Amino acid sequence: MKPAPAPSAAALPTAAAVPHKRNIIAVASGKGGVGKTWFSITLAHAMAKSGKKALLFDGDLGLANVDVQLGVTPDHDLASVISGDATLAQAATRYDGGFDIIAGRSGSGGLATLPASRLLTLRTELHLLAQRYDWVVLDLGAGIERTVRLLTQQSRACLVVTTDEPTAITDAYAYIKVTALEKLADGIQIVVNMVGNQRDGERVYSTLLKACREFLKIEPPLAGIIRRDDHVKDSIRRQVSLLTRHPGSEAAQDVETIFHRLDDAL
Ligand SMILES: Nc1ncnc2c1ncn2[C@@H]1O[C@H](COP(=O)(O)OP(=O)(O)OP(=O)(O)O)[C@@H](O)[C@H]1O
Ligand SMILES: [Mg+2]
Repeated sequence: MKPAPAPSAAALPTAAAVPHKRNIIAVASGKGGVGKTWFSITLAHAMAKSGKKALLFDGDLGLANVDVQLGVTPDHDLASVISGDATLAQAATRYDGGFDIIAGRSGSGGLATLPASRLLTLRTELHLLAQRYDWVVLDLGAGIERTVRLLTQQSRACLVVTTDEPTAITDAYAYIKVTALEKLADGIQIVVNMVGNQRDGERVYSTLLKACREFLKIEPPLAGIIRRDDHVKDSIRRQVSLLTRHPGSEAAQDVETIFHRLDDAL
């Protein structure tokens, strides 16, 4: 695999300016469509199921879709926060699965190009709100643009999702490279999604690990492997969380395993 080109670095606040971030987990990827949003929802639900107070923040500011996957239309969302009609805490809406959601607003392109000063206010509000929860999951947009990097910087652990597609692996590497070089996240971990079995997942992980070792001198651990499972599509089609609709499915078990490992390790 070839190393990815250097990022175009727009300035971000320094790490010293980043407030307390002990309980924030970012879910990122380079490539779109690898399962970030679905995984973020299921992870937050797994947290709630094990008695943790969890908040899911839709950080895909331009193409939000947590609300779409869950079939909810909250009274307030991030767009109302940014327009000043609600505080971030007011936008936190309880989902049936027992966790709170801060929804984005799909197609609200202005959110993706928010001025840095507004993003920083949002960041402060997020950290204050995070204190009320055991865990906060940030579902990020694909790619490595400024908003994604700023939100990555808020996380204690950053879970990078890839599939077995070469483009997904290369793009995951590009995201890890930026995150490592700019020291955005303390702990990068890899999630391999949509694979046939454990062995296939381990193969994908070792490809990515090899590139990280060789070019970045880092060894991000494997957070876990999630099997391809048709129950995922079914629950998304029905706009219900997988842990509600198919709680015993393979993909549900895999995400719960990842959560328990994280909960023990972090
Ligand atoms: N483990 C899985 N098994 C089967 N299908 C899956 C699995 N994970 C994700 N999918 C499929 O992948 C699709 C994309 O998932 P999702 O929208 O969560 O990706 P994303 O990374 O958030 O995409 P985007 O970058 O566009 O935000 C889902 O609609 C679902 O059909
Ligand atoms: Mg998404």
